Amino acid sequence: MNRETTRISPDQIAAQLEFCEKIARRFSALPAPPLAFVDTYGCQQNEADSERLRGYLARMGYGFTQEEGRADLVVINTCAIREHAEQRVLGNVGALVHTKRDNPAQLICVCGCMAQQPHMAEKIRQSYRQVDLVFGPHALWRFPELLHRLLTRRGRIFEIHDEPGSIAEGIPLVRQGGVKAWVSIMYGCNNFCSYCVVPYVRGRERSRDPEVILAEIRGLVEQGYKDITLLGQNVNSYGKDLALDMDFADLLERANAIPGDFLLRFMTSLPEAASQKLFETMARCEKVAPHFHLPFQSGSTRVLAAMNRRYTREGYLEKVAALRALIPHVVLTSDVIVGFPGETQEEFEQTYSLIEQVGFDALFTFIFSPRHGTPAAEMDDPMPREQKAANFQRLVARQDEISEQRHAAYVGKTLRCLVDGRDEKGLTARTPGGRLVRLEGEDALIGQFVPLRITGSNKWSLSGERAEG
Ligand code: SAH
Ligand code: SF4
Ligand code: F3S
Repeated sequence: MNRETTRISPDQIAAQLEFCEKIARRFSALPAPPLAFVDTYGCQQNEADSERLRGYLARMGYGFTQEEGRADLVVINTCAIREHAEQRVLGNVGALVHTKRDNPAQLICVCGCMAQQPHMAEKIRQSYRQVDLVFGPHALWRFPELLHRLLTRRGRIFEIHDEPGSIAEGIPLVRQGGVKAWVSIMYGCNNFCSYCVVPYVRGRERSRDPEVILAEIRGLVEQGYKDITLLGQNVNSYGKDLALDMDFADLLERANAIPGDFLLRFMTSLPEAASQKLFETMARCEKVAPHFHLPFQSGSTRVLAAMNRRYTREGYLEKVAALRALIPHVVLTSDVIVGFPGETQEEFEQTYSLIEQVGFDALFTFIFSPRHGTPAAEMDDPMPREQKAANFQRLVARQDEISEQRHAAYVGKTLRCLVDGRDEKGLTARTPGGRLVRLEGEDALIGQFVPLRITGSNKWSLSGERAEG
């Protein structure tokens, strides 16, 4: 697609940073910095957006809290991918009536993919009157200006106009954690899978300049980040809108050449676009993690066509075979939808047989959720809910067995793992392919690559201990 992408100029971002300064000056007389709570739903793309929201907020002088009750400003960055995601958001926004009653000066912003949908913005306007500011992903770069308007004038603000989308560089970031980082390489989606809301709320595909991306990765490596994930809804479209002779595999190769001890991951890839060149590049590039997330969505070619996915069951299986021929130890994960409108029991069985045939390491299983304005929401959907639920349970149970078996095969092996954090059960680490390993040890190990001998496994994770390296 050769549509001209709007690039937000450095002057436009400078103007936003001036709004940050103006807001900071308003707060400078306060005895303590005001507090913001940023709550993020949805995918890594949204996590990456929240890092930019926090970056702006930090420039405005906000400190951060995890408790909505203590927050002067609540920002809810929403997801619209399934109804469940929207309901969780609305439930939490509803509960903010109470915190606002205790603190009437509290400001509430709802942004992100859900907010970009006109019918949802309308719902918030009418039924969630505690919300002061609503804006979609397209307006994120203008957040300081919108917040300044909110602070200086009366009235609620709704900023959700639709557009193909823009690219804004130079927005400050506050990243979460110091080991893993997300780097968006492109935004939007052109695929219009018939069930999916993303193209409607995130605009058309547009790629960031490779030099800017590579400079960002270099900066992250210098700051000590060890696990860097390149993000896009279909990373294989990277560069198609740029007047450069560069595709995603070339970008990966150049990122791999950046000096330092770190891992590169990426998501997501459409099967038909995952090329032999990409597989070969992965196999050759030592920093690219041996992990491929390759959503298949359905094992039935008929259903795939109804989903507007441009590959067949056989085509998918061929991609998996080609990838495994080059990288035999690759960790394969995938997404699948159960109960797409019109999916028959036989077609579901094809999905079931596909997961047995491939043997994924992990699978994200979703029940079809009709999304406002998408073609699939209008399709006949005769299968009863209970049957879909039973199919879903069967698929999940079979995948649990497969994951358990695949994990069991790690026991006794020693792998170079990245210790990435701590949770209530102890330290967590990741195998090169991204499987979770639990271990005991000091926090000082966080951020280090250590050889771990795998001593145990279950369907979710592995356990390990330090091996002599
Ligand atoms: N761009 C990625 C997917 C992003 S959305 C890709 O195409 O691979 C993440 C996953 O959510 C999808 O892979 C799909 O399995 C699921 N999903 C999207 N829309 C859905 C819907 N309406 N109902 C159920 N699951 C859905
Ligand atoms: Fe949605 Fe399809 Fe785009 Fe993925 S490729 S974001 S599933 S429309
Ligand atoms: Fe991501 Fe949800 Fe938007 S999955 S792109 S945050 S609809």
